[in-house]
Amino acid sequence: MSEPDPRQTILREITDDDVEQVVALWRECDLTRPWNDPHRDVADARRNPTSTVLVALDATSAVVGSAMAGYEGHRGWLYYVAVAPQLRGTGLGRVLVGAAEEWLRRAGASKVRLMVRSTNAAVLGFYASLGYEDAECTVLGRTLEPSR
Ligand SMILES: CC(C)(COP(=O)(O)OP(=O)(O)OC[C@H]1O[C@@H](n2cnc3c(N)ncnc32)[C@H](O)[C@@H]1OP(=O)(O)O)[C@@H](O)C(=O)NCCC(=O)NCCS
Repeated sequence: MSEPDPRQTILREITDDDVEQVVALWRECDLTRPWNDPHRDVADARRNPTSTVLVALDATSAVVGSAMAGYEGHRGWLYYVAVAPQLRGTGLGRVLVGAAEEWLRRAGASKVRLMVRSTNAAVLGFYASLGYEDAECTVLGRTLEPSR
């Protein structure tokens, strides 16, 4: 059997028909967490004009990759960068990040950042090969309660 070829994939913005496959891909790639509803994450990114979810489709139109991009007026951010296991190591991750960077550039961003979970250090080499450097920041966070 021949190796999957990333040049056979099509990249485009997510559509309604892709959503379940995208969420399944994120689960398969261990990118979901109990405290984040992935369907809501997709819907939120699609609702705002400054964010998107890009998908890669194989020759059978199956979703085999994703990258979420968002620009908040200061920096572009990447989330949910994922490649289906059978296509890893074929350059698709690089293509997806490049497409997301281009989307951010067109949105007005001149800098891009992403967060890597400390439990996912294995992926640091991937980002290093794409030119990403440790920004030497500690990420802090809290939940915002809905306005009353
Ligand atoms: C990270 C991920 C998207 C990489 O996708 P991929 O399609 O395998 O990556 P590519 O084939 O485009 O690799 C691009 C480069 O990174 C390197 N690379 C890929 N994965 C790597 C790893 N785990 N460690 C070191 N280098 C890696 C490749 O060797 C290649 O280098 P080269 O261009 O110099 O030859 C994929 O492994 C994945 O989906 N992982 C699970 C989800 C995840 O953890 N996402 C990141 C969340 S922050």
